[in-house]
Amino acid sequence: MLITGFDLSQLADKAAQRGRQLLSDLQSYLERDYEQRALPEFGIEKAAEYVGCTSQHIRDKEKDGTLPQPRTNRVGALERRIYNYNDVNQIRRALKRDEGPNDSCARVIFSNLKGGVGKTSHALHLSHFTAREGMRILAIDLDPQATLTTAFGLVPGLDVRVDEDIGPAMTTDPSLISRLIKKTRWNEIDVVPAQLSLQYTDWQMLQERERSESSLGPLPQRLNTALAVVEEQYDLIVIDTPPALGMLSLNAIAAADMILMPITPNFYDIASSVQYFSILSQLASAYTELLRVRQLSLLMTRTDSSAETRGNIALLNKAYGEFLLTNRMPQTRELQRASGDQMSLYEIEVPRGARETYQRAIDAMNGVNTEILQNLRQVWRTLEISHSGA
Ligand SMILES: Nc1ncnc2c1ncn2[C@@H]1O[C@H](COP(=O)(O)OP(=O)(O)OP(=O)(O)O)[C@@H](O)[C@H]1O
Ligand SMILES: [Mg+2]
Repeated sequence: MLITGFDLSQLADKAAQRGRQLLSDLQSYLERDYEQRALPEFGIEKAAEYVGCTSQHIRDKEKDGTLPQPRTNRVGALERRIYNYNDVNQIRRALKRDEGPNDSCARVIFSNLKGGVGKTSHALHLSHFTAREGMRILAIDLDPQATLTTAFGLVPGLDVRVDEDIGPAMTTDPSLISRLIKKTRWNEIDVVPAQLSLQYTDWQMLQERERSESSLGPLPQRLNTALAVVEEQYDLIVIDTPPALGMLSLNAIAAADMILMPITPNFYDIASSVQYFSILSQLASAYTELLRVRQLSLLMTRTDSSAETRGNIALLNKAYGEFLLTNRMPQTRELQRASGDQMSLYEIEVPRGARETYQRAIDAMNGVNTEILQNLRQVWRTLEISHSGA
């Protein structure tokens, strides 16, 4: 039956108007919520452990004015010094214990055709882990779903306005990237956010291919060119990609030194990894001269102890042995809860569930990130050798 008098355009307009009101109400709520959530705080012993010195050394340097006066917290009659990760990095710098890993910037991308495998979760946790080590990080959200962006406290459509995603740096002028970078509550982490309209960037790039290639270079190279503008300011660029191999992901691959592919050990994900690698291989042979990838690693995620998972892990080991990271990330409610609150495990002060569950989750995450960091150190070394030979 044909419905007469149905005006989709009017209806959609009305929905958009209501949506805008809803968004602005949401923004005030989210901003209040985000401001209230600070980085976790700890005492001087923990701060000294992170810095790699004694707590007495920090006390002495606070006394002689090398370090600023610490914030304190009064518990009864006791006045306790408190610090967070930003303070720790400030102390490192003041005590000259902040030599970055080297002079080069490494780029790592999280990539998989499949959704829900942990790309964004691990991009976020690697950013926080390496920032905690004192490195300067640029996180780039290449996924129009903008999950990483919201995890950094930015609301697409409100904090991220039209043309404030990476799109313009890829379609108009690479140097625009400097203007797209936003601060986060971690002093060492900046972010280039995403928003829904980023999904048109693929389309736009293809539409304007002929006109733009003479001035901006080959399509898959655009992100690489933009990153070169700002990478001097960072030790590591962490890129989160959408679950697809379109132009955005292809740009990420062409910009990457290391590809990390989170994979869950179930039949469908294993099958899709085969497709992923054949597409990757075709791309690599089509664009050999554009690629700079030096490492390709698979990270098993969301593992459990079922017989089926154990069987699939054995299959994955057999097939991809040398590509697989030794550390795995098990399925854990703590991670689910943390991402529900737009936080990482590193930002949680008081675990929601049992402390042991949280400890297991963070130990596993630290294991994964320590191994990734070891691999990254090799990347930094090779980058340095190639720079010094250049
Ligand atoms: N090890 C884990 N244990 C429990 N939950 C997890 C784990 N890893 C990821 N998750 C949860 O699974 C969901 C999907 O994870 P995430 O967003 O990181 O995947 P993704 O690969 O980025 O997905 P998409 O391709 O849609 O962007 C999130 O809610 C996240 O909290
Ligand atoms: Mg994601």
